[in-house]
Order: sequence, then structure tokens, then C-alpha cells
Amino acid sequence: MNILQINSSARADGSHSTQLARTVVDRLRAAATDGQAIALTVRDLGQTPHPELNEATLQALFTHSEQRTPAQAARVALDDALIAELQAADVVVLGVPMYNFGVPAALKNWIDAISRAKVTFQYTANGPEGLLKGKTVYFALTRGGFYRDTPADSQVPYLKMTFAFLGMTDLRFVYAEGLALGADAEQQALVGAQTQIEEVVAA
Ligand SMILES: Cc1cc2nc3c(=O)[nH]c(=O)nc-3n(C[C@H](O)[C@H](O)[C@H](O)COP(=O)(O)O)c2cc1C
Repeated sequence: MNILQINSSARADGSHSTQLARTVVDRLRAAATDGQAIALTVRDLGQTPHPELNEATLQALFTHSEQRTPAQAARVALDDALIAELQAADVVVLGVPMYNFGVPAALKNWIDAISRAKVTFQYTANGPEGLLKGKTVYFALTRGGFYRDTPADSQVPYLKMTFAFLGMTDLRFVYAEGLALGADAEQQALVGAQTQIEEVVAA
């Protein structure tokens, strides 16, 4: 089983989302059957940010590969590497903090990089088709406040739509909410998240 762990907190130390993503990976290892090999790739978008989609990048992407300048080829190769990592993964585990009601810009840049027409999705006579099929995706969501199952949670609908568009439909969410509301609330949120991890990995 190939696991790809994507961290998107800006924090190098003390990130709850990164820690919960690690816990999901540990739980997957523990649940693996005897003899099942597990390979883990970790990409930390906070520590190694992926470049944003700007005009030069769009030009590089829309230039035929044989006509790209060396700089354009190098820029597209950065996105290619992320796509290859994701294609190779059976399981994807993402740590996702809430920043200003959305996903971190670092994660958005990753999503922009992996969403490529004719590679990770395509348009057919029947509409769009995602090409990243057969994967299980875990999201460890961390928030200072409480948003789960309310209209204020713009993260989860966005993540569901984006990942499903790319063909990933087995999506499992773990929430640690109320992390900014004092030590007791934080402790309660983290214990609750551990229980959710047990449940979603076993499901
Ligand atoms: C820049 C920034 C913006 C944030 N925006 C929100 C927000 O909109 N809603 C919320 O509930 N918490 C917000 N928080 C709190 C974080 O979601 C919370 O601290 C979470 O634990 C961060 O994830 P991490 O521990 O993995 O770094 C914000 C934190 C930061 C640093």
C-alpha cells in the first residue's frame, strides 16, 4: 500500500493537523494485514511550498512540451512530480487547517498543480470524468471554532467537490474543532479526533 501524506499547516512544529495526519498513517499501518508492505511519502506544503499558478505557469502549461523553454519545462516538471506522487498513491492523508474560512493557500496551490486536463480529469461526451480512481482519502481538519455540518463550513464542500471531480470518491473526514477555545476544549477536540480516526480507518 502506497500512502501519500500531505501536510498543509504553515507551522513546522506543534501543528495539530499534521499530528492528526500522522496518527491516521500510524493507524493505517497498525490495521495493515501481516506481510502487507507500506510505503509512505510525506509532502509538507508548509515547509516546501509549491509555487502558485501565475501567468508564466499558465503559459508553460499551455505550451506544447516540445516547444517549452527550459524554464517552462522546469516549472511544469514541478507539477508533474506532484501528479506522479498522487497517481502512485493508494491512500492519501491530508492535514488541513482552517485558515480564514478556507483551506491554506499552500494546499490550494497543490490542488491547482494536480488538477490537469487529460491527465487527472477529462471531459467526455457524458461530462467530466475524474481519472484518479480507486483511492481512499483521509482529511484531518483542524479549526479554532466550530463549523462541522453548518453552512459556515466552506472547506468540506469544496474538498468533496474537488476530489470527486478528480475521481476520488472514498473521502473520510476527521474533525478537531474548538482548538482556540482553551486547553480543555483543545484536549476534548484532540481526544474526539482520535476516536474518529479509529472509526474512519476501520470503516
Ligand atoms: C492564519 C490563521 C487563520 C485562521 N483562521 C481560522 C478560521 O477562519 N476559523 C477557525 O475556526 N480557525 C482559524 N484558525 C485557527 C486554526 O484553524 C487552528 O489553530 C488550527 O489548529 C491550525 O492548524 P494547525 O494546528 O495544523 O496549524 C486560523 C489560524 C491561523 C494561523
